[in-house]
Amino acid sequence: MNSAANAHLINSESYVQKPFTLPNGIVIKNRLLKSAMSEALGTIDNVPTMKLATLYRRWAKGGVGLCVTGNVMIDARAIGEPGNVVLENDKHMSKLKLWAKAGTCNNTQLWMQINHPGKQVPKGLNKNSVAPSAIGFGPALTKFFEIPRELTENEILDIITRFATTASLAKEAGFTGVQIHGAHGYLVSQFLSPNHNQRTDQWGGSLENRMRFVREVYRSIREKVGEDFPIGIKLNSADFQKGGFTEEESIEVIKTLTDDGMALIEISGGTYESPVMALGSNIKESTYTREAYFLKFADTIRQETTASGLKIPLAVTGGFRTTTGMADALAHDNLDMVGIARPLAVDPDYPHKVLSGQAKTNPIRAISTGIKFVDDAALMEVAWYTRQLHRMGVGKNPKPNEGAISSLVKTLLTSGYKTFRTRRLRA
Ligand SMILES: Cc1cc2nc3c(=O)[nH]c(=O)nc-3n(C[C@H](O)[C@H](O)[C@H](O)COP(=O)(O)O)c2cc1C
Repeated sequence: MNSAANAHLINSESYVQKPFTLPNGIVIKNRLLKSAMSEALGTIDNVPTMKLATLYRRWAKGGVGLCVTGNVMIDARAIGEPGNVVLENDKHMSKLKLWAKAGTCNNTQLWMQINHPGKQVPKGLNKNSVAPSAIGFGPALTKFFEIPRELTENEILDIITRFATTASLAKEAGFTGVQIHGAHGYLVSQFLSPNHNQRTDQWGGSLENRMRFVREVYRSIREKVGEDFPIGIKLNSADFQKGGFTEEESIEVIKTLTDDGMALIEISGGTYESPVMALGSNIKESTYTREAYFLKFADTIRQETTASGLKIPLAVTGGFRTTTGMADALAHDNLDMVGIARPLAVDPDYPHKVLSGQAKTNPIRAISTGIKFVDDAALMEVAWYTRQLHRMGVGKNPKPNEGAISSLVKTLLTSGYKTFRTRRLRA
């Protein structure tokens, strides 16, 4: 470590306080990125509610530099969960504007994460699900997800246009950027994976063909929003599945997308089949060597790209819990932005605490029901955190000590009912 890097031991927060300038010149006031957390705060017919403005104002006031919203769906026929916001036209522009205004207060960058779930939707929620190929998930998940229908080429082109429409509506509403959801097994990630994409046309096969979809999504958004509007992407380091998207392929995609003009690449990893992105609070610290799970991958990217003179604007998300861990990664130039999700669900003021050197302890604890197979399912933890977002959406404080079992029961009852109502609405 050089002497500058050593300094973080004395003043870690100074690394996090430093502004970051995106390739297009836009300045983010500090190095903290609030990573996407699906809020499920849309109405039953997927319209944004004022709870979103309340929640995002709270986060903006908490000091984060760049706040990425939970995934917003680009097509009402393809939602990922009840209560997702869908953005296809300007019908609810006034509500979106209020959301954007609240979330950009305190000089906060607010990017809308935009998504198509492909086949990763709970059974029965949409009329049918679509994917690059008509291949279902493995045996562990067939109970929960339908076997999808293969997309036609015209449908692929339509989805690409829809991403661009949603992005330009986000811009019109006052969001300061968009992030394509290319991680965690949703449609973009399905196209990239040789397991899930077995097409024999120009959209499948070689890596060049499998990445055509995400490149076209980027190109069509760029055409609509102009040169200055930041477009980022959240991407998997790998799928962690045999025959899936590998780290080597991910690096190739990252290089290509940066060359194309992507403003910020956020690294995450895993899918519902192998949910490594949600690990952390329930695994032993010794199972990963450094604080954040994908730092080693970020190291490799830096090594492979710096030599060729390509500077990748990089964020890494998953597991950051201490100011020294964050400063260490920044000091080593592993990344440009530190992504954090769950700490912000239990403490919206966490960024202020990190930036002022007051964040001394890990803000999150293991969420456990005491029932192993329930705890092992990442969805239980997600449900617990979603409840904290809902509390903030109505102006309350999160409840970090809320019991896991009671939270799970309440969530199952509410989301089961909401799924039923959504299904009836769409029948
Ligand atoms: C309640 C909840 C909802 C999430 N929703 C999304 C989402 O909509 N889009 C996304 O890319 N990641 C989503 N994630 C994953 C987080 O962005 C993040 O990658 C993961 O929690 C690891 O970061 P952490 O260790 O800082 O929490 C969600 C996580 C949680 C806990």
